[in-house]
Amino acid sequence: MSERVAVTGAFGYTGKYITRRLLEQGYEVITLTGHPNRPDPFDGRVRAFPFHFDDEDALTDTLRGVTALYNTYWVRFNYGTTTFERAVRNTKTLLRAAETAGVRRIVHTSITNPSLDSPLPYFRGKAELEESIRASRLSYAILRPTVLFGAEDILINNIAFLLRRAPFFVIPGKGDYRLQPIFVDDFAALAVEAGAQSENITADAVGPETFTFEGLVRLIAEKIGRPARLVHLPPRLTLWTARLLSALVGDVLLTREELDGLMSNLLVSSEPPRGKTRLSDWLEANREKVGVRYASELARHYR
Ligand SMILES: NC(=O)c1ccc[n+]([C@@H]2O[C@H](COP(=O)([O-])OP(=O)(O)OC[C@H]3O[C@@H](n4cnc5c(N)ncnc54)[C@H](OP(=O)(O)O)[C@@H]3O)[C@@H](O)[C@H]2O)c1
Repeated sequence: MSERVAVTGAFGYTGKYITRRLLEQGYEVITLTGHPNRPDPFDGRVRAFPFHFDDEDALTDTLRGVTALYNTYWVRFNYGTTTFERAVRNTKTLLRAAETAGVRRIVHTSITNPSLDSPLPYFRGKAELEESIRASRLSYAILRPTVLFGAEDILINNIAFLLRRAPFFVIPGKGDYRLQPIFVDDFAALAVEAGAQSENITADAVGPETFTFEGLVRLIAEKIGRPARLVHLPPRLTLWTARLLSALVGDVLLTREELDGLMSNLLVSSEPPRGKTRLSDWLEANREKVGVRYASELARHYR
């Protein structure tokens, strides 16, 4: 009988890549998700269970017999009753349920440069969860990615979308802050490899290329064959522009916290890159597809 593992969000973005690799390696995969009725891209091979964050016993029952939990659950911003505080609380419930159910190992998706002192709730919440995992009975691999790129990505896709459609592209501030994107399937490979090990690991998961934000926008423009008509604006005005565009596309394009995180150089690592795929090569191979359609966070998680 094959070993049973659980992936949060197996029908979503990162979780789907992790799941594909686990299935290829012969694992039985179940998923915990907020959308258990979404079509299973794995032809019914992955059983879906609701998150049950409000019913720890039910969550524990779902996890019985699972050896490893691959956790991608998190929220991008506060929206209505969905908040970072709640996501921290929900993840702690998930950790307790995993412990009670006898799960051996957790592979947890964090973020580069999390900090308990961070003024940014995304980075602070991730740090708090890392602490909880280290204090738990679970053996753990904590992986800290930066921006993940791939076919279903939001950030890089929507930069390309704006470069294709808008008369100009706003660069917040000088645009000299850096980021080190990692290919989503490289991240999945690291996660699956880490799941099979037993020692406790905390490692950054970043790609081989580092860009300034302006350099990244110029690269995307070059690859998709559009002019980079860049306008530098102070962060506050950038956010106003983003709000206007958000209203036009019916989404939340960029939050103040995300902009602060980006401009604070938190999406780079001092560790050696663990991802191999170069964003520049991936853009070249996907130049006809990237940014052709807008990728909406709200459509993905709130509708
Ligand atoms: N995407 C990036 O560029 C990036 C960069 C750095 C770190 N990360 C981290 O990587 C992990 C996976 O990110 P992803 O972009 O691949 O996420 P995702 O697949 O869109 O979502 C991951 C999981 O979180 C749940 N979720 C997401 N937003 C939610 C919301 N607003 N309300 C309720 N549940 C929500 C999803 O629920 P469903 O199963 O219902 O879809 C899914 O189970 C996260 O921990 C994130 O912090 C992502």
